[in-house]
Amino acid sequence: MKVLITAGPTREPIDPVRYLSNRSSGKMGYALAAAFTEAGHQVLLISGPTKLDIPDGVDLIPVETAADMFEAVEHHLGRMDTAVFAAAVADYRPQEVPEHKIKKTGETLTMELIRNPDILGSCRGRFGFHGVLVGFAAETENLESNAREKLTRKGCDLVIANDVSQAGIGFDSDRNQILLVHPDHTESLPEDEKHHLAPRIVREIEILAARP
Ligand code: CTP
Repeated sequence: MKVLITAGPTREPIDPVRYLSNRSSGKMGYALAAAFTEAGHQVLLISGPTKLDIPDGVDLIPVETAADMFEAVEHHLGRMDTAVFAAAVADYRPQEVPEHKIKKTGETLTMELIRNPDILGSCRGRFGFHGVLVGFAAETENLESNAREKLTRKGCDLVIANDVSQAGIGFDSDRNQILLVHPDHTESLPEDEKHHLAPRIVREIEILAARP
């Protein structure tokens, strides 16, 4: 099948030399891209800036901002069978981006931020996507109920939830401990390396894709 994956952080410019971003390494999305390819699927990876090597056989579209990622997804989603949203998209961006570097003046600096579009949340409605839709939820509390709320609100078939309050797993780490949150049940997988979890997640998505 044809699989679109978003991965990594987005970078939202503040001025020509600064940006707002987050600690996402992209490792989970890249591990999934490699695992889908190894399982014989065709992968389009839309990725924010990371230090990772592009897995063999994967088509990459590099992006910087949430707006770039939105545009790339909107352009390619129509021909996909499955879409997996592993990116840590910045929820807000600076409203005004000056042409020149901001000089320090006062003791404080106030910046107005504006909401970024919800890419995953646009798939079912605005993009009219009918394929298998998988989201991620990074939570620090009420992991399962927050992930289940996201599953319903964004029209997902599966949400992969991880607790980002625990040191050593999740964000910016090689390891993860995840819950597979389905509409009718939840499965907890034991903590493991991201590249071991990825083929397990791929099998779960293959089962969803094979459903009538
Ligand atoms: N996501 C996205 N576009 C955004 C924000 C999030 O595609 N602008 C996707 C992420 O890739 C992830 C899922 O939505 O698959 C959950 O992201 P998260 O930011 O945790 O969800 P929110 O709905 O923004 O919830 P909250 O404000 O509770 O964090």
